[in-house]
Amino acid sequence: ENEAEKLEDLCAEELEKHNAVLIAHYYTDPAIQKLAEKTGGFVGDSLEMAKFGAAHKADTLVVAGVKFMGETSKMLSPEKRVIMPTLEATCSLDLGCPAKEFKQFIDEHPDRTVVVYANTSAEVKALADWVITSSIAVDVIEHLDAKGEKILWGPDRHLGGYIQKKTGADMILWQGHCVVHDEFKHIALEKTIKMYPEAAVLVHPESPDSVIALADHVGSTSQLIKAARDIPEEQVIVATDKGIFHKMQQAAPDKDLIIAPTAGEGATCRSCAQCPWMKMNELTNLAGVFNHDDNEIFVEPDLIKRALVPLERMVSFKK
Ligand code: 13P
Ligand code: SF4
Repeated sequence: ENEAEKLEDLCAEELEKHNAVLIAHYYTDPAIQKLAEKTGGFVGDSLEMAKFGAAHKADTLVVAGVKFMGETSKMLSPEKRVIMPTLEATCSLDLGCPAKEFKQFIDEHPDRTVVVYANTSAEVKALADWVITSSIAVDVIEHLDAKGEKILWGPDRHLGGYIQKKTGADMILWQGHCVVHDEFKHIALEKTIKMYPEAAVLVHPESPDSVIALADHVGSTSQLIKAARDIPEEQVIVATDKGIFHKMQQAAPDKDLIIAPTAGEGATCRSCAQCPWMKMNELTNLAGVFNHDDNEIFVEPDLIKRALVPLERMVSFKK
């Protein structure tokens, strides 16, 4: 047994000993995703992670992802202990949308229904009428638009712009962005498409609209994996975090997966199709997470009460 295998075994033993289940996002290290698969845990998109945690009978949820995912799990299951391999893992969308400023934005538009992306703090969720993830974003806004509601959206401007285009809804957008998806570039992607003219292009909607315009399929991480499996093309260009390749390759074993370019020639990218915060989840910090109580997620009961209203709309929404 090598060191990595020993560490994996140690993590599996710890999870079992503490009646804990591991819930991981597709962007985490494949070693974490494999551990979740091996131990009866779960790997999924942000909405599926929230639903899985809420429905699971374990006393403790170990959420490998970024902080908003741990907070959402805690708020949906306040009676459970929710811990994360690191509490340092945040998200540029969450960072770029402080609750105080967002509250002012809401106050400037009192006639609008407030819809926020799941990639936000518990405080921002508590200000919202709806929380949504990219997998249900278009459907929820269509539903609200059909009722004649005008929308105030935050924080991701690219996802917001995409939904606005798809639905024609009246939306005012907060101007946040994801540092990872914002790096996908139109001109460089056009060149990649020329190199692989037969390939299908899959894009996460946090990408710039000029990149989305080149896509054959746009969707959440789970939706992109399903698309990769179901489409006839043998080559697939993917504009999202490359951690997704672990599950995408399992779903589409014979396909050739190509990561979309993150910068033009000669330019450098900061994140290069890899979320710097998702990357902070490692088997080493996961193995030690039960030995101290520094990594537990706590959310104020009053905040939970307010945020649960829009969060429950998110988990119970049916198309
Ligand atoms: P998904 O809901 O598609 O998993 O997206 C979460 C996320 O953080 C994407 O960057
Ligand atoms: Fe946030 Fe982007 Fe990382 Fe997703 S990939 S967690 S949106 S910074």
